[in-house]
Amino acid sequence: MKKVFITRKIPENGVMMLRDEGYEVDVSPRERPLTQDELINFLKLKQYDGVLSMLSDKIDMKVFDASPSVKIFANYAIGYDNFQIEEAKKRRVFLTNTPHGGVDRVAEHAWALILALTCKVIEGDKYIREGKYTGFDPMLLQGSKVRGKVLGLIGAGRIGTEVAKIGAHGFGMRVAYYDVVRNREIEEQHGATFWPTVDEVLKQSDVVSLHVPLLETTKHLIDADRLRMMKRSAILVNTSRGAVIHEISLVKALKQGMIAGAGLDVFEHEPALSPGLKELKNVVITPHIASSTVEARGDMARMAAQNIIDMFETGKPADVIY
Ligand code: GLV
Repeated sequence: MKKVFITRKIPENGVMMLRDEGYEVDVSPRERPLTQDELINFLKLKQYDGVLSMLSDKIDMKVFDASPSVKIFANYAIGYDNFQIEEAKKRRVFLTNTPHGGVDRVAEHAWALILALTCKVIEGDKYIREGKYTGFDPMLLQGSKVRGKVLGLIGAGRIGTEVAKIGAHGFGMRVAYYDVVRNREIEEQHGATFWPTVDEVLKQSDVVSLHVPLLETTKHLIDADRLRMMKRSAILVNTSRGAVIHEISLVKALKQGMIAGAGLDVFEHEPALSPGLKELKNVVITPHIASSTVEARGDMARMAAQNIIDMFETGKPADVIY
């Protein structure tokens, strides 16, 4: 009987799929991400064949060494910067992700952050709850509109394309994008213009949304210099990975009014926030929930479980990373 360890409680459909296939499944009893030492200790308890991992689990040499029987780490996430890919390759351990899980939902969340900032939804809510509302005031909490403005996308994969679609067709925005590869769909279907550098997109955009994976080349892609290039009236939204932004520089830029606001679902040192970030009024923050709908989280559970099943049934999981 194959044994699978799931590093955090996930929707039950994924667990049931594995059990229905006759697998022995253990789910971490902790109601929080495991530390790496805890993960290693769990993996040493049994000769596991597969692990269904979270994006918060650092799967590196130490974990591979501690779990030589594990043939697959199936991430419950679109991103997989938590995997040490070269090390897995050397050991012929399969790595998978859930590339289609929650793409539309992440795009919707990026838009929720954009509109929360431009329509001052959070500030307005807080204002009323604090008992400050005394009646209609023409000068109160003036936001900005997005219609007709420039939406700048850094990264135009599946999620970036969905964000462009909503911006172009829902709000009549002009879309400018940068990516390492050109995306004809975003250009032909959503009228987006390709720019060969990040800087060119940042300089012209009113709303900048980040949709790149976290790699050596994208870590701190948005640093102090690039924040300085943005319009003072622009907002920056991040639903990708926190470390794509140099967070301390962002806090400084927001304090100094270098940009108008930021909407963040991810943080450089998650779950910690850089000092000063949560005190800022021009920031909307959510706890890494961009893909959190019942539908998307259930899809992700199904995809991750299917990758494990396929690995052992056919040797060909659909979503192999390398
Ligand atoms: C969430 O951040 C994911 O990568 O799915």
